[in-house]
Amino acid sequence: MAVCYKDLGLVNTREMFKKAMAGHYAVPAFNFNNMEQLQAIIQACAETESPVILQVSKGARQYANQTLLRYLAQGAVEYAREIGGGKVIPIALHLDHGDTFETCKSCIEYGFSSVMIDGSSKSFEDNIAETKRVVEYAHPFDVTVEGELGVLAGIEDEVSAEAHTYTRPEEVETFLAGTNVDSLAISIGTSHGAFKFKPGTTPKIRLDILHEIEKKIPGFPIVLHGASSVPQDLVKIINENGGKLKDAIGIGEDQLREAAKSAVCKINIDSDGRLAMTAAVRKVFTEKPAEFDPRKYLGPARDALKELYKHKVINVLGSAGHAFD
Ligand code: G3H
Ligand code: 13P
Ligand code: ZN
Repeated sequence: MAVCYKDLGLVNTREMFKKAMAGHYAVPAFNFNNMEQLQAIIQACAETESPVILQVSKGARQYANQTLLRYLAQGAVEYAREIGGGKVIPIALHLDHGDTFETCKSCIEYGFSSVMIDGSSKSFEDNIAETKRVVEYAHPFDVTVEGELGVLAGIEDEVSAEAHTYTRPEEVETFLAGTNVDSLAISIGTSHGAFKFKPGTTPKIRLDILHEIEKKIPGFPIVLHGASSVPQDLVKIINENGGKLKDAIGIGEDQLREAAKSAVCKINIDSDGRLAMTAAVRKVFTEKPAEFDPRKYLGPARDALKELYKHKVINVLGSAGHAFD
């Protein structure tokens, strides 16, 4: 049975982005696939009073089951209320990298408050047409829509891009006018996963392109995907405990902090969370090889994730303390 996100206590991203733009910070979009990740995200954001976007990929939807996800998100609102002593931080439930109109429609029916239609692998014209179709379906339900222009290097779901195709600033106005999207993901040198730059190269993103885009569409919310920083202390713990992550390099947190002060209103982080959980689990298995109670390794993984995300909202995105502005 279809459900409206408003009945679950969720919000769309419109107000969140307006406030983030005015306050010069970015709202975190953290991916989740299971209860422990969701607990860590809510704990981190409710304790620091940060708004949050709970992000679900197509793969996460398949992994966790869409009905369970709906109740998990609803539970997350009540859990945040408990932590907040009756006050609930703004929580959006967002489809990450929606591949088709049908996926977006199905998510809206299952209580999502925001969807991304990722037409970045299509031609400019087809991207506009598909994005417009999703917007026209979503807006009557007051669901916000994120589109994407430009292609990130690496893997975007099943779409593989060998190299970045940076967003072309001269195309953004036409894209917005043709689609009426609520936010725009751009490609400026970030990429998905833990191997973002070749060793020996300078890990830099193209803030100059971001600023050019901002000039074309002043005040319009920009989204950064692939924004994990790949903390080297986590990579070290993983490798010291049987892991084999070679040349894992991410985006410098200083560059993300800079971007968050601009029109970048949403920053997507998933890989760093995966690293934090994996490091914690590997450590438990090294130190306590006889352990076989999942709570004894998933618990530390959850705690590590919470600490990492607290750090992100306080020191990188700057969203801490802004939930009730
Ligand atoms: O951008 C991709 C996100 O990190 C989600 O990854 O498709 O493996 O769930 P996933
Ligand atoms: P990372 O792989 O850099 O964490 O990016 C996540 C992301 O963009 C989800 O859409
Ligand atoms: Zn992404």
